[in-house]
Amino acid sequence: MSQSTIPTSDSSQTAPQPRRIHHTKMPTLAFELSEEVDRYVAGQIATLIREKKGAGQNAVLGLATGSTPIGVYRELIRLHEEEGLDFTNVLTFNLDEYWPMEPDSIHSYNRFMWENLFHHINIPKENVHIPDGTVPLAKVEAWCDDYERKIQEAGGLDIQLLGIGRTGHIGFNEPGSSRNSTTRLVALDPKTRKDAAGEFYGEENVPMQAVTMGVNTIMNARQIIMLALGEHKSKITRIAVEDEVTDQVPSTFLQKHPNSMFVIDSAAASQLTAVRIPWMAGLVEWTPLLVKKAVIWLSQRVKKPLLKLEEADFMENHLINLLRACNKSCEEIVHEVFLDMQSGICNKPGGDKPITAICFSPHPDDDVISMGGTLITLADQGHDMHIAYMTSGNIAVFDEDASRHTKFVNQFLELFKLDSGETAQLYKKLMSDLEEKIAGEPDSPEIQSIKGLIRKTEAAAGAIQAGVPESKLHFLDMPFYQTGDVKKNPIGEADVEIVANLLRELKPDQIYVAGDLSDPHGTHRVCAQAIIKALDVVKAEGIETEVWLYRGAWEEYEPHEIERAVPLSPAVVHRKRTAIFAHESQKDQALFPGSDAREFWVRAEDRTTSTARVYDELGLPEFYALEGFVQYRGQL
Ligand code: F6R
Repeated sequence: MSQSTIPTSDSSQTAPQPRRIHHTKMPTLAFELSEEVDRYVAGQIATLIREKKGAGQNAVLGLATGSTPIGVYRELIRLHEEEGLDFTNVLTFNLDEYWPMEPDSIHSYNRFMWENLFHHINIPKENVHIPDGTVPLAKVEAWCDDYERKIQEAGGLDIQLLGIGRTGHIGFNEPGSSRNSTTRLVALDPKTRKDAAGEFYGEENVPMQAVTMGVNTIMNARQIIMLALGEHKSKITRIAVEDEVTDQVPSTFLQKHPNSMFVIDSAAASQLTAVRIPWMAGLVEWTPLLVKKAVIWLSQRVKKPLLKLEEADFMENHLINLLRACNKSCEEIVHEVFLDMQSGICNKPGGDKPITAICFSPHPDDDVISMGGTLITLADQGHDMHIAYMTSGNIAVFDEDASRHTKFVNQFLELFKLDSGETAQLYKKLMSDLEEKIAGEPDSPEIQSIKGLIRKTEAAAGAIQAGVPESKLHFLDMPFYQTGDVKKNPIGEADVEIVANLLRELKPDQIYVAGDLSDPHGTHRVCAQAIIKALDVVKAEGIETEVWLYRGAWEEYEPHEIERAVPLSPAVVHRKRTAIFAHESQKDQALFPGSDAREFWVRAEDRTTSTARVYDELGLPEFYALEGFVQYRGQL
């Protein structure tokens, strides 16, 4: 990264040090991990609260909701509980609330704030201000004016905390919001509603409108801290800090604020020029990985295979420093990169002798979607291949599918005269649970079980297609996932112990882990953390294993990151597709498709064939498809 270390305001010895990213239009501080972002930002807020207290004044905070600031709130709670941080002199104003919205709804930002922060600290109730989603339409304007007045009466916002939406929104100021806008009722952008669809169990349940502070309200804060965590925020982060100011991306307005900063983790920083192509943004420290990245970039930029690159290509494309720093000829550098990539191509991922391997699949379809070809290869080559499904994935099943399966079982029982008063009663309850379910609310425990069972049977069908028998499937049902809600708990000891027990039982030579470590709140990352903790536990008992990371359904590793590329023949790709098709509840239309409208099997095939194309264009052998892996070496 092209950056320098800057001091933090937190004096504690263990305070994480941010790195200042250059080539941006507003101060941008990056930390390796999202937890470090949380600690740094909570530290800034705590410093303000203490300073204000010392001066006998109130600290006025503008607060955000969403997945991003949760870690900051957890850290503030910790500071309160363990270090006595006092909130009695704190006044808060939240950015926004859906409209209409009852404050006790599970979707309400009011409820969110109390559950994630206010209930756990000693802030006086009357100091909390949150936009009201129950104000009737005719009174909304007056209510918003009053909100603005209250902020001014409090002396204005000392710090405004912000997340950033995929549209570049701040608060709910969507594209087109005026620089001068104040608190008001707004319509939500379709992209924002899509992003919220998961939490609301369907886009149709997401409100169309919200009450939000305006851009001007936010810009009037004395300090603004904008946060972005995770790879899914990397594109909009780059636009916000590198592109021109425009009302089409309201977060760009912050470039004009005299005291704003963007605090991000390394995943969100990944698309910034100074991180993605640092040689274009100034001097760099050339590590072997960066050399590989630059050479691949050059080859793609000048559209020449690696071994046809010449010194002139380096000189004409800002890479003269690379040649100088490496003190090697262009040919030597290029050859090393070529050989490195070539040696990663691996037809026998399990090696020559039979091994025991486990594929850890966060949800019941990640195994076949993300590494189905490698699963098939390992099973076909006679290895003892196991799959561990870490969660039931029950929240991603449509009600119609639960209803169809329930009807099937009922009619099956009737057909074979196995029905009884008890089964009839259960059937009635299940059908009424489904019919009377309030849109956007979680399912009854019984319906959750049925949905989990649907995914379990699909997982088994998919695994069989991939050559892994049912006897080698392990359904871990990790407790962190079992909230019945889209929001999950952090991992606990019980989660780690479940994984550790499987490692103790099978003593695998190799394991495969979904390495979506950049998504700070997603299930994949939590699952990876549990595995990594469990590996530490069993290592102390003498159990060690080779760990390979694969990417989830959303993205592939970049070519320079791939350390092992497993070639897939057309026949293997076809079997992989059949295995993915077994996940019927996720087929045609998935409940949580993310921002990509393509079906999972299409994404999987596009991704593996395009990796093969990249290798081909770099002058490596031409394959039909490739699955990429990165070796885990003790560092996330
Ligand atoms: C929330 C808010 C929004 C979010 C943004 C990012 O109060 O105003 O602007 O900050 O949508 O949401 P997450 O953090 O969930 O990605």
